[in-house]
Amino acid sequence: MPRKNPIRTAVFPVAGRGTRFLPATKASPKEMLPIVDKPLIQYAAEEALAAGATNLVFITGSSKRAIEDHFDSDAELEAALEAQGKQDLLDSLRGILPASASCIYIRQPSPLGLGHAVLCARPVVGSEPFYVHLADDLIDAERPCLGQMADAFVERGGGSVLGVQTVDRRETDKYGIVAVEKINERLSRVRQIVEKPKPDEAPSNLAVVGRYLLSPTIFDKLEKIGRGAGGEIQLTDGIAALLGQEDVHAYAFEGKRYDCGSKLGYLEATVEYGLKHPQLGDAFADILARVLAQRLRRSA
Ligand code: G1P
Repeated sequence: MPRKNPIRTAVFPVAGRGTRFLPATKASPKEMLPIVDKPLIQYAAEEALAAGATNLVFITGSSKRAIEDHFDSDAELEAALEAQGKQDLLDSLRGILPASASCIYIRQPSPLGLGHAVLCARPVVGSEPFYVHLADDLIDAERPCLGQMADAFVERGGGSVLGVQTVDRRETDKYGIVAVEKINERLSRVRQIVEKPKPDEAPSNLAVVGRYLLSPTIFDKLEKIGRGAGGEIQLTDGIAALLGQEDVHAYAFEGKRYDCGSKLGYLEATVEYGLKHPQLGDAFADILARVLAQRLRRSA
């Protein structure tokens, strides 16, 4: 039985413009793209809540109002659904957030990078460890990924924990890449971390995929590091500055990750979540089978 998890705050950097999904993301945040019937940011909030967080801190930028609207209650819409007797829909709205959760919105004044976005959360996070969750990376796991990382954090007695996964060697330049010393099947000690190295310069093919449990010492480091890869203040460089001073662990989580920042990853997640959907799954499987059979016949 895992000991009590002390993490109360989750930070969601959502200021990025989502240019890979233009024009869909011209006026609407990429985090509001739905997977079947819930936006990505709701999956993110649910994962953090399931991992014990109650303070949800969104680091926002321009064109992100819809995220705030999504987590606010909408008395007018609820009254209309109630009057129409649409209890299921009403429940789905009321279930977006439990009453115990607080949403805090901080505006990132200019797009200076992920490290800078995390630093913007400092006044709210203070001196406690906290989660950082990138909503583009959707992870389907029996025990939510952040919860698995919190268990590792408690077991190791503190420090920081990064959610990692092996990626194709050719893709190391899309990720923060770590070099590690193995402790057990899932847990390793991080010895080095580099932001988006070229495949022939990468220390491994173990990538950080959008889940972090960070010690508050990261804020001091982020304040001091300059601009790194892409001219941005990189979270990876802040973590690199922690190494040698505090423990940083890599945790190879159990679960399947979908890169919903890419169109193919997003489509894959849509298909798999559609197939697993309790009401739609069977009918959707029939449709997919029919469409694929037609396609195979045409190409035969
Ligand atoms: C960011 C981080 C990178 C990490 C990745 C995970 O990159 O900078 O270290 O591996 O998220 O998805 P981005 O995808 O924002 O370019």
